[in-house]
Amino acid sequence: MEELKRMVAKEALKFVEDDMVVGLGTGSTTAYFIEYLGKMIMEGELEDVYGIPTSYQSRLLALEYGVPVVGLDEVDAIDIAVDGADEVDPSLNLIKGRGAALTMEKIVEYRAGTFLVLVDESKLVERLGQKMPVPIEVIPAAWRAIAEELEVFNATAELRMGSKKDGPVVTENGNFILDARFHRIDDPLDLEIELNTIPGVVENGIFADIADIVLVGTKEGVRRMER
Ligand code: 5RP
Repeated sequence: MEELKRMVAKEALKFVEDDMVVGLGTGSTTAYFIEYLGKMIMEGELEDVYGIPTSYQSRLLALEYGVPVVGLDEVDAIDIAVDGADEVDPSLNLIKGRGAALTMEKIVEYRAGTFLVLVDESKLVERLGQKMPVPIEVIPAAWRAIAEELEVFNATAELRMGSKKDGPVVTENGNFILDARFHRIDDPLDLEIELNTIPGVVENGIFADIADIVLVGTKEGVRRMER
């Protein structure tokens, strides 16, 4: 699996050119991309490339590997954003947010000229929600009310708990994460919009209609899916 992640991360470098602003996603696959991108910059193979991190993880990796970072408010445009995903359906709709960085990821990826997604073949599903719950970032005071409201959507939600911290996961924006399992997601775009109308919801992990290209790592090589 790690080999497949490395393979797509290497392939993604072909999309980066001099003078580009690059959105840096979060997660184990993107971590390889940031490492390789940093190497190219340090070796002078790419010039004037700047990264916009979507999390502390991507910021720390960028600093470690030598990718100069800038803030979203310092750039006029983002040329490309590169990130992993937890599920990808045949129309390139995604579920993201296992790393709890979904809000900043969506802010950056929505604005990128090209949003490039890196996955291994285990992430491909026929229908979103088949394997993974939909992460929803919520204002802490509202978590229980929102979890109950999700029953209207035929979903059951769990408050995400920390693994090396007691109590709930707290996002980089100071919020909680609800992991919501839906009985069936027929229209990802519709659900994405509806969830964000619930007061107290900051953002949700359905990324419908924003991925441009998905690179899929398979044992036979990298497969490209495009909208
Ligand atoms: C973080 C994410 C990640 O991009 C997603 O979970 C995929 O991660 P990985 O490449 O480690 O499988 O959405 O919030």
